[in-house]
Amino acid sequence: MTSIFDKDCRACPRLATFLDDVKDRYPDYYCRPVPPFGTSDARFLIVGLAPGMHGANRSGRPFTGDHAGILLYQMLHKYGFASRDHSAAADDGLELIDCRITNAVKCLPPDNKPVGAEINTCNAYLANELQTLPKDAVVMALGGIAHRAIIKALGMRQADFKFAHAAVHDVEFFRLIDSYHCSRYNTNTRRLTEEMFDAIFAKTRELLDK
Ligand code: URA
Repeated sequence: MTSIFDKDCRACPRLATFLDDVKDRYPDYYCRPVPPFGTSDARFLIVGLAPGMHGANRSGRPFTGDHAGILLYQMLHKYGFASRDHSAAADDGLELIDCRITNAVKCLPPDNKPVGAEINTCNAYLANELQTLPKDAVVMALGGIAHRAIIKALGMRQADFKFAHAAVHDVEFFRLIDSYHCSRYNTNTRRLTEEMFDAIFAKTRELLDK
């Protein structure tokens, strides 16, 4: 596998079958592997977990249409990475600036939980995508699963690079910054507050502008 994305991928039988079932229930939904969104030469790459049922899986754009994207796009706009502070639909004209958003797993998983084999299968796409980054890029991992997928994609030891909110790791040719995922659960329980997420974006901006 040499590409960073395949819109026809059905490599994970459980996910492919699930997408077929969801398409039957919601014929208007996108229900395919969701492509990365943003410019191909971006210096800033955000790695989420996987499309949400009524968000990216419906709209076809990462973090678009459900709660998880609200704070994310607000921060992207505040720090100059997005032309607007809200992503409404894949064709809404929103542009990312020096930024791209991808997911560790490109297909909607049942219960928002990809299994290990699915994360591993999809990891080849992520590995290829990381190799396209320019030198001195910054990659933001949203949550521990995305963090570990990135470390695996780089062929590095998990024990040497532990996930911790706000940690910055020097890996290969880029910096990896960790954040708790901006999910509804994490924001409602205040595991991730707006101030905490803002600080992550401020740090990212600083790393890129240095
Ligand atoms: N939507 C995505 O595209 N990714 C996530 O991780 C969560 C919601």
